[in-house]
Amino acid sequence: MFLNLAIVVGLGSLGLCATYSTIQDVPNAKWDFIIVGGGTAGSVLASRLTENPELNVLVIEAGSTNEGVEESIIPGYGLRTRLTRYDWNFTTVPQQGLSGRAVTLQRGHILGGSSSVNGMVYTRGPASDYDRLASVSGDIGWSWENIQSYLRKNEKLEPPADNHDVDGEFDPSVHSTTGRVVVTPPNNLSPAIDAATLQASEELGGDFQFNLDMNSGKPLGLGWLQSTIGHDATRSSSAMSYLDSQTKARKNLHIVTDTFVTRVLKTPGTKGLTIRSVEIRSPNISDTVLLTASKEVIIASGTIGTPHILLHSGIGDQSDLKTVNIETVLHSPDVGKNLTDHPNLFIPFSLAPNSTDLGPWANLDTNPALQAQALELWKTNRTGPYVQYFPAHHIAWLRLPNNSSIIKQFSDPSSSRESAHIELILGVSHSLTSGSLTIGSNDPFNNPLINPAYYTSEFDLLTVREGIKSAVKFSKAPVWKNVITGLVGPLNNATTDAEIDAFIKNNTGSGLHPVGTAAMSPKNASWGVVDPDLLVKHVCGLRIVDASVLPYIPSAHTQVPVYVIAERAADMVKMKWYN
Ligand SMILES: Cc1cc2nc3c(=O)[nH]c(=O)nc-3n(C[C@H](O)[C@H](O)[C@H](O)COP(=O)(O)OP(=O)(O)OC[C@H]3O[C@@H](n4cnc5c(N)ncnc54)[C@H](O)[C@@H]3O)c2cc1C
Ligand SMILES: *[C@@H]1O[C@H](CO)[C@@H](O)[C@H](O)[C@H]1NC(C)=O
Ligand SMILES: *[C@@H]1O[C@H](CO)[C@@H](O)[C@H](O)[C@H]1NC(C)=O
Ligand SMILES: *[C@@H]1O[C@H](CO)[C@@H](O)[C@H](O)[C@H]1NC(C)=O
Ligand SMILES: *[C@@H]1O[C@H](CO)[C@@H](O)[C@H](O)[C@H]1NC(C)=O
Ligand SMILES: *[C@@H]1O[C@H](CO)[C@@H](O)[C@H](O)[C@H]1NC(C)=O
Ligand SMILES: *[C@@H]1O[C@H](CO)[C@@H](O)[C@H](O)[C@H]1NC(C)=O
Ligand SMILES: *[C@@H]1O[C@H](CO)[C@@H](O)[C@H](O)[C@H]1NC(C)=O
Ligand SMILES: *[C@@H]1O[C@H](CO)[C@@H](O)[C@H](O)[C@H]1NC(C)=O
Ligand SMILES: *[C@@H]1O[C@H](CO)[C@@H](O)[C@H](O)[C@H]1NC(C)=O
Ligand SMILES: *[C@@H]1O[C@H](CO)[C@@H](O)[C@H](O)[C@H]1NC(C)=O
Repeated sequence: MFLNLAIVVGLGSLGLCATYSTIQDVPNAKWDFIIVGGGTAGSVLASRLTENPELNVLVIEAGSTNEGVEESIIPGYGLRTRLTRYDWNFTTVPQQGLSGRAVTLQRGHILGGSSSVNGMVYTRGPASDYDRLASVSGDIGWSWENIQSYLRKNEKLEPPADNHDVDGEFDPSVHSTTGRVVVTPPNNLSPAIDAATLQASEELGGDFQFNLDMNSGKPLGLGWLQSTIGHDATRSSSAMSYLDSQTKARKNLHIVTDTFVTRVLKTPGTKGLTIRSVEIRSPNISDTVLLTASKEVIIASGTIGTPHILLHSGIGDQSDLKTVNIETVLHSPDVGKNLTDHPNLFIPFSLAPNSTDLGPWANLDTNPALQAQALELWKTNRTGPYVQYFPAHHIAWLRLPNNSSIIKQFSDPSSSRESAHIELILGVSHSLTSGSLTIGSNDPFNNPLINPAYYTSEFDLLTVREGIKSAVKFSKAPVWKNVITGLVGPLNNATTDAEIDAFIKNNTGSGLHPVGTAAMSPKNASWGVVDPDLLVKHVCGLRIVDASVLPYIPSAHTQVPVYVIAERAADMVKMKWYN
């Protein structure tokens, strides 16, 4: 079916560092490392590994460059990347738990990967999530205490664009000002709503108690949002921060965009199962390009892309591979399994007319003249509504009550009593459900079959039901008396649990935090795909560095855990080859 004409790019002299948009322009060179996917983790690795000028690194990214892409750069344009060339346009298989609906699962198809299109929420999650990773993987290096240096290397806290007084909005002692990815508290755009939110927290107390900093390792309670948005009101993606112009100017870093990797292959002339070769093919060009790294191929293609490449390379469950006519190179039954995501549900409330001052921007979403004005403001002054992505400025992290019958009935999936089950309003943060990713054919240009299996565990459904009750409880704080009039839509009419469940199933979508498809497990464990150093079990020369290696879904948005994984992986790679 495909021509097997391999152009083996061999040794040669390196040209100047550059970014290319086609593999044909990339010079023949000796690559120490080839990174498959210039996404969130891939950009970190590219940047850190080329700090050593002796190392030649090639990054291969399927999507386009991020440079000049306003949809990615301007925070308020964040939603505009959906279903564009910057999106892989993935859809799940029909979900039984979602009334049979298939839902979209956005992933970034652009340099910087999902960090170039994400909601920019900066959450580390509870300390106990990292401690659990350390204990499950048998590597104490993943513990909360031991990853602190990586959090510091990653984060660069700056004042928000509007320079308002941020005293009391976070705890400076838990932040770093010396890393790469810029983190800021929200701009002071809706002071009345912010003040009322804090007052509601005071009035309700308990679960909604104010937490000065949800990134201290103890997230529970209500606190101020932090975002990966710069002081200059632009998105601080992995590409913007780690692949800045100085890094890109390094002679030992080469990046090729718009280039799709189909497989990784056993390297000819090597002993045992050594996989350091990468295959690049295009549906329209019959030539196949093969590139080989002298040290490692590092797959950083994300929770969906990574198992897709592994399975097409014959690394997966033998019997699954057989059904799609792929020869097994390594029987690794857990590839693509244990896919876990957060379900996400919007709970709509109605507001009393004129109760909140949305100011001149009230009709921004529908009024092109206002949009032009907002863009102009962002461009000339870094003010106006486009300096932010979310209109919300606070998050509440909640647990089911200790005596909840849900916890009694199911085992508690959270890592400790300091970890949340519910995140308001963005979704449920802990999940028992796990699904799978498989491939439906041996054509790598066909999308994989993604099955997060939302709500196949009743725990998740019951917890979301509790989440709705918590949201209603919050809306009934006295401060909202003349502001929030109540739930709207079918939820307002739902009186029985069955009706509430029907609403949940009809309206849940992906929380966009899938993990687990190439899970980390202890060395010599009979389950999992990679060792705690992220090298693929039973293979030489192949490492996986991205969200797919997380065996449990964090009680957090997932970009910070991915940054931690990538920063530590870069250290592990350097240590292995240079110390
Ligand atoms: C819309 C959206 C909103 C989100 N909101 C938040 C948020 O607010 N806060 C938060 O913390 N997290 C958020 N997340 C999740 C977070 O962004 C991801 O968990 C994280 O960025 C994943 O990083 P990664 O390195 O694993 O994968 P990615 O960043 O997705 O990188 C994978 C890269 O590999 C490339 N690739 C894939 N396959 C191939 C191939 N075959 N050949 C070549 N290249 C390939 C992709 O194009 C991509 O660039 C969001 C995600 C999305 C999509
Ligand atoms: C996603 O869909 C949009 C709209 O159809 C399309 O323009 C874009 O090219 C698609 N993305 C990819 C990576 O194919
Ligand atoms: C590849 O071929 C498809 C279908 O024939 C076509 O739609 C597409 O534009 C082509 N792409 C390129 C890059 O030539
Ligand atoms: C899923 O993860 C658990 C550990 O959390 C492990 O025991 C199990 O083998 C995994 N299952 C698959 C199919 O990967
Ligand atoms: C809301 O405010 C607008 C503009 O100030 C005014 O025209 C309108 O009558 C007000 N509506 C109510 C219900 O008070
Ligand atoms: C521009 O920004 C400054 C400082 O942030 C602010 O005071 C001023 O109102 C802004 N100008 C406009 C037109 O919004
Ligand atoms: C739940 O139990 C934990 C640990 O025993 C305790 O610290 C916490 O205060 C309890 N919460 C409530 C609301 O009782
Ligand atoms: C849990 O404890 C609270 C407060 O002590 C009590 O009001 C509630 O009825 C208890 N719920 C269950 C399910 O036992
Ligand atoms: C809710 O119920 C009322 C009264 O039965 C009905 O008029 C209304 O259309 C319903 N709303 C929704 C969103 O279903
Ligand atoms: C759920 O969707 C089904 C099918 O579209 C519809 O009949 C039903 O009324 C919806 N129920 C709720 C509560 O939204
Ligand atoms: C894994 O197995 C190998 C070979 O049996 C052994 O040498 C090694 O010590 C084991 N490693 C661990 C961490 O158990």
